[in-house]
Amino acid sequence: MRSIAIDGPAGAGKSTLARKIAGEMGFIYVDTGALYRTVALYLLREGVDAAEAAKVEEALERIQVDIRFEGGTQQVYLNGERVSDRIRTPEVSMTASVSSALPCVRRFLLDQQRQMARTHDVVMDGRDIGTVVLPEADVKIFLTASPEDRARRRYEEFIEKGREIAFQEVLRDMKQRDAQDESRAVAPLKPAEDALLVDTTGETLAQSAARMIGLIQERMV
Ligand code: DC
Repeated sequence: MRSIAIDGPAGAGKSTLARKIAGEMGFIYVDTGALYRTVALYLLREGVDAAEAAKVEEALERIQVDIRFEGGTQQVYLNGERVSDRIRTPEVSMTASVSSALPCVRRFLLDQQRQMARTHDVVMDGRDIGTVVLPEADVKIFLTASPEDRARRRYEEFIEKGREIAFQEVLRDMKQRDAQDESRAVAPLKPAEDALLVDTTGETLAQSAARMIGLIQERMV
């Protein structure tokens, strides 16, 4: 099986680019952030403090997270309920960033991610795919863009979905999440030593996708 690992901070364009690349290469696209978000949704619903390791660890015993591919698109299920849309809120983003720092949460989701790559050709995106989940990936890409560019993309996505939110709030939340994801002790957000750094600041997604596909093809032939 072949695998492409794409890591980077929120809003760098990971999911859009990973989906496009997977489509062009005939691989499946695995969005690992959705798994962390699904755990966070459960914690929010049950009122479990995402920063309290013992409480979260106990809650994990009641959580079943499943990934299914429906019409080629990844869906996530929380204890049998499809929650793919419900996990896309600012509250879930922030809670996922906190609970994903816990070793018990990372351990809980690790095998499931590796299993996907054992059974399928994958483009997998996240924060620690090249460093921890798939250190043997065929190609590793670390995507970045300026915080303002990333916040603008996220802001536009929210507006498109009809959500009312201020740009400054999106930017502030994004910087806070970056700091949390980069500074955690376990599997922090950072490029793998052999990752290709791709900065998408000022590029359209089509331009970034073309550049990345070129880089991947050079390495996968
Ligand atoms: O990619 P995303 O915004 O959907 O991810 C939500 C949170 O989940 C992010 O703030 C950090 C965490 N995450 C992680 O720790 N490791 C991953 N591989 C993917 C996401």
